[in-house]
Amino acid sequence: MSDACTRLGSVSEALPRAVIVGGGTMGTGVAAAFIHQGWMVDVIETDAQVRRSLSSRLAGLMQQSVSASSLAGRLRACASLAEVQWQHVQIVSENVFEDLPVKRRVFAELAEIAPQGVPLTSNSSTLHASEISLSSSRADSIMNLHFLMPAHLVPLVEVLATPEVATEVVDRVWHIMLAIGKKPVRIMQALPGFLVNRMQAALMREALALIDAGVATAQDIDIAVRYGFGFRYAACGPILQKEHSGWDISHKLYKMVFPTLANHAAPPNVLGRMIAQGRLGMKTGQGFVKWTVPAMTQERARFNRAMNEATEVARGRPDDIEPDWQL
Ligand SMILES: NC(=O)c1ccc[n+]([C@@H]2O[C@H](COP(=O)([O-])OP(=O)(O)OC[C@H]3O[C@@H](n4cnc5c(N)ncnc54)[C@H](O)[C@@H]3O)[C@@H](O)[C@H]2O)c1
Repeated sequence: MSDACTRLGSVSEALPRAVIVGGGTMGTGVAAAFIHQGWMVDVIETDAQVRRSLSSRLAGLMQQSVSASSLAGRLRACASLAEVQWQHVQIVSENVFEDLPVKRRVFAELAEIAPQGVPLTSNSSTLHASEISLSSSRADSIMNLHFLMPAHLVPLVEVLATPEVATEVVDRVWHIMLAIGKKPVRIMQALPGFLVNRMQAALMREALALIDAGVATAQDIDIAVRYGFGFRYAACGPILQKEHSGWDISHKLYKMVFPTLANHAAPPNVLGRMIAQGRLGMKTGQGFVKWTVPAMTQERARFNRAMNEATEVARGRPDDIEPDWQL
């Protein structure tokens, strides 16, 4: 082990290892997801202060999920990729700033240094791997693997299986995600927002347009989603739910409603006004909600508890039978 890396305790070196580049919000959550399933993790973080706080932040996240004790000995916090021990590394997950030149530099270094065959994945929410890997000799191993926040709790991961990436690499990443208890979906075209953020954006455009038009308050929009159709989503997705209710009814409704849905290219006015006023949510103490420090602490704890409980519901029971999907 390099002296430059910090490690807590010691465990067997033969365990599978993941390299996480970037130890901020997402990198820490992704690291927790691997460690939680018994993997060793090297986190590469260039900011010394962020690096120093990594183990305490990770321990905090892991307490929210299952056990803080499983962290001991499994984490190395390193300042550079040169310090990584590549033996047993099965995957790299890049989680640095959402900035193309920064990501390109990281992947150029990875292409030089990471052993052949190790999948090099990016957690970018907006940049496609083909932009990041442009003219890289390892372009067929560089792919998007998109976790959702908080990455240690949300089961879904989006696996982008685009033609530039070797099928064998995509399959390997898929199986690694299953091995750490994630629920992967395979996406065959790199559209902006992949799957999840596209669908969320479609909902958010309508929700904000309804607030803009004075049809409902922000609070009532949240209540309608959370206690209405969102409530059903922990039990089944929108397609399966319509299998329950009947597509003919939905077809009639959509003929009437679709032509009236918001379809503006620009985000609704209410959002522009809020941004201009610095009302960004918890990070500025006010969004649609006014946040005091105790209120934020309480809300975050409630959110994490509810996410854990929802995870149990979404995962179902071992004897649940998957329906016979046809299309
Ligand atoms: N925040 C989210 O909700 C979310 C969700 C899914 C995906 N993502 C994606 O995850 C990535 C990271 O986002 P975040 O919210 O964690 O950002 P963040 O700012 O919290 O963390 C980024 C970290 O990367 C470090 N870093 C920068 N350059 C580096 C380098 N060359 N080597 C090592 N470390 C470096 C920074 O010091 C920082 O700690 C982005 O690509 C983002 O699109 C974010």
